[in-house]
Amino acid sequence: MPRVQRLLEELSNAHGPSGSEGQVRVIVQRELFPIADELESDGLGSLIARLGPRNGSPTIMLAAHMDEVGLMVRYVTPEGFVKFLGLGGMLDQALINQRWVIATRKGMVNGVTGIKTTHVVPLEARSQLFRREQMFIDVGAASKEDAEERLGIRPGDPIAPDSRFMLLNDSKLYAGKAWDDRAGVGLMIEVLRNLRERAGHGTVYAAATVQEEVGLRGAHTSTFKVHPDIGINFESGVAGDYPGTNQDEAQEKIGAGPGLFLHDSSMLPNLKLRDFVLDVAKELEIPVQFNVIAGYGQDGSEIQRSYGGTPVINLTVPTRYLHSHTSVISRNDFDRAVRLATEVIRRLDAATVERIRRFE
Ligand code: CO
Repeated sequence: MPRVQRLLEELSNAHGPSGSEGQVRVIVQRELFPIADELESDGLGSLIARLGPRNGSPTIMLAAHMDEVGLMVRYVTPEGFVKFLGLGGMLDQALINQRWVIATRKGMVNGVTGIKTTHVVPLEARSQLFRREQMFIDVGAASKEDAEERLGIRPGDPIAPDSRFMLLNDSKLYAGKAWDDRAGVGLMIEVLRNLRERAGHGTVYAAATVQEEVGLRGAHTSTFKVHPDIGINFESGVAGDYPGTNQDEAQEKIGAGPGLFLHDSSMLPNLKLRDFVLDVAKELEIPVQFNVIAGYGQDGSEIQRSYGGTPVINLTVPTRYLHSHTSVISRNDFDRAVRLATEVIRRLDAATVERIRRFE
């Protein structure tokens, strides 16, 4: 389906570090406006779409975050180089010698994190990593005044990786930045589109959240708007299927089906909901992969801890190399995640949700 590929490409390319999700919001709004019964923003900028009657029973909350890991302008040196702060977790070695885009009041500004040439680095230091405090972005400015006045750069301006979508050699694999969590945002849009076309679902709220990468902040506020009975968070998973990784770190493989998190540092999923999802997957003959991650953190945990507690799962599109300039997902996983989530939601009737919510 070229439409879905185009949507994912557009979402991946959009500039949207935490707190500056505007470009992504425009896409989500355009896609969800014709689908949803109501579309509203919360006070922090998350976009919340409703499908079905207000105060319907049950109320199902879907979430996916619009922001991506990036940087922020901290200050400009007298010589015109931009010093920065990280927004969300990236390895220092993922930052150096990359291209970046700074969104300024005067438009988009290109830059590159410069790296010392090997010619001037002593032999014994050549295998050492550069630390982010040593780094800067070269925007081609002659001075601080030039950067601030001609280019419009100000402290606080958001900086995103400059990395365009790419089909990985005619495969079903999509390479691009920000699959965390634009894969989830695309998934949520397609699920809502499917639900609109099919009868038999409760009231579904889809929250495209902001500021996840700096502490799940948009999910916190948007859950107040929804008051869900049950939650499904859509995320990019963590693949452990390339050289140098192992199963003890991450268990998902790309191309082997959607992932279901059983542990991350922010949330334990509801196991009745896990089993319900697995039953539906079995019926549809969709393979599901588990992932048990020591670190990580995701919006589902904010839904889980709202209003006295809510059963939640985190459903993923397995992703290689997340939180870097270029990550990789499989279109097959994406499509199967759409189908699985759609059918799970359609089967979450009032009695099923009540059963999942009950403690025996
Ligand atoms: Co994420």
